[in-house]
Amino acid sequence: MFKSLKKDIDSAMQRDPAARSRFEVWLTYAGVKALRSYRLAHWLYSKKMFLCARVVSQGAARRTGIEIHPAAKIGEGLFIDHGHGIVIGETAEIGNNVTLYQGVTLGGTGKGTGKRHPTIMDNVMISAGAKILGPVTIGEGSKVGAGSVVLKDVPPHCTVVGVPGRVVRMRGEKFTDMDQFVPDPVLEEFARINKRLSELEKNVGISSCKYSISSEVANQPNYSGDNTTKNTPAEPKGEEPK
Ligand SMILES: CC(C)(COP(=O)(O)OP(=O)(O)OC[C@H]1O[C@@H](n2cnc3c(N)ncnc32)[C@H](O)[C@@H]1OP(=O)(O)O)[C@@H](O)C(=O)NCCC(=O)NCCS
Repeated sequence: MFKSLKKDIDSAMQRDPAARSRFEVWLTYAGVKALRSYRLAHWLYSKKMFLCARVVSQGAARRTGIEIHPAAKIGEGLFIDHGHGIVIGETAEIGNNVTLYQGVTLGGTGKGTGKRHPTIMDNVMISAGAKILGPVTIGEGSKVGAGSVVLKDVPPHCTVVGVPGRVVRMRGEKFTDMDQFVPDPVLEEFARINKRLSELEKNVGISSCKYSISSEVANQPNYSGDNTTKNTPAEPKGEEPK
């Protein structure tokens, strides 16, 4: 337990440019305090002292704003920056050297039982306000952008952003594999409008916009774009003959 606490302090020293001394980190950092309590609560939980474990974890949650279920599995070197508003669910698993910023939720979707929280592999960074929901896996070395909502597995060494989360970088390169396309209703609506606009422009003989994200969506293989009737008001029906 003490070895893990030492690593938690080390990771704050390494990853927070504002950290001045190990003593300051131990004494004042909410993330380090929450991990201290979590390590004790997790130990109590492993000895089947469930109530004591919950009392410790809830006390820490009230003091730090970081709620970690005692049953969650957390590796070494977790750095929780700032802290407030973080929730780590009962069946969540976190590897080594992970960074979490304020407002991150590793939660369930509310639909599952059993393993219902995310698995975060080593060296992952989850930015402020990101929500990872359900038993999904965030692959090693990946980054989740601020404010993203991730509902599907993320491969290793990717950057995922947006709501719902989409892979935009893989190993630092722009990600263009549209087979991995995650449906986004707003973007799809833009794609439909863009497609119709291009056809109109073609008919009147003017050049269309060369690039937009929605054009990429319209060009990707799974996109048909012919469901415009879905949003078109139905033709008024005449009265049924008696
Ligand atoms: C995602 C993040 C980690 C950057 O990762 P990266 O792999 O270096 O990715 P890039 O900066 O190259 O951005 C990739 C693309 O995603 C977009 N993007 C980045 N962050 C985004 C976000 N949070 N939401 C939506 N889009 C985002 C970029 O504009 C870029 O778009 P482009 O391909 O059209 O140019 C970073 O943008 C981020 O969200 N940092 C937040 C850190 C944080 O929480 N700080 C709080 C400290 S208190």
